[in-house]
Amino acid sequence: MRRQDGALKFARMERFPMAGERIVSVDEVPDDTTVLFTVRETETDERREGILVRSNGSVTGWLNYCQHFTHVRLDKGSGAGLREEEIVCTNHGAMFDADTGQCTYGPCDGAYLQALDVRSTDGAVYLTDPDYRFDSVGPAETDDIDLTSTSNVEF
Ligand code: FES
Repeated sequence: MRRQDGALKFARMERFPMAGERIVSVDEVPDDTTVLFTVRETETDERREGILVRSNGSVTGWLNYCQHFTHVRLDKGSGAGLREEEIVCTNHGAMFDADTGQCTYGPCDGAYLQALDVRSTDGAVYLTDPDYRFDSVGPAETDDIDLTSTSNVEF
């Protein structure tokens, strides 16, 4: 998220305070992988995928695509890999800090995952991002073409 987007988002949250929409219970977020869910953009109603990940004792949310090739999903439906609280992109090995979203290793070193605002309270994780509405747990319905294959793997 660009910094100016954050200011706009905050202004909208001030106008439309919301408790958020429940995604899953905190206990459903595993320690060793991610939870995949679907959101809809508030303005366009377009489906997007998000992931939840445990980090430093809390849960963070990110849009489900790599910053190297943005058509590549981090969680391809069976959970993204985690290594020492970093999300691993299996295509070329980029690693993203689960707390900040920053790529700490790999071809997109220094780039950031796009954040989805989530909040954990009373044992559940809620989507609190004014740019998105919660749709469902699991993948977004996709076209017949699988854009997440490993055909972009380079050696
Ligand atoms: S697509 Fe994720 S590291 Fe290349």
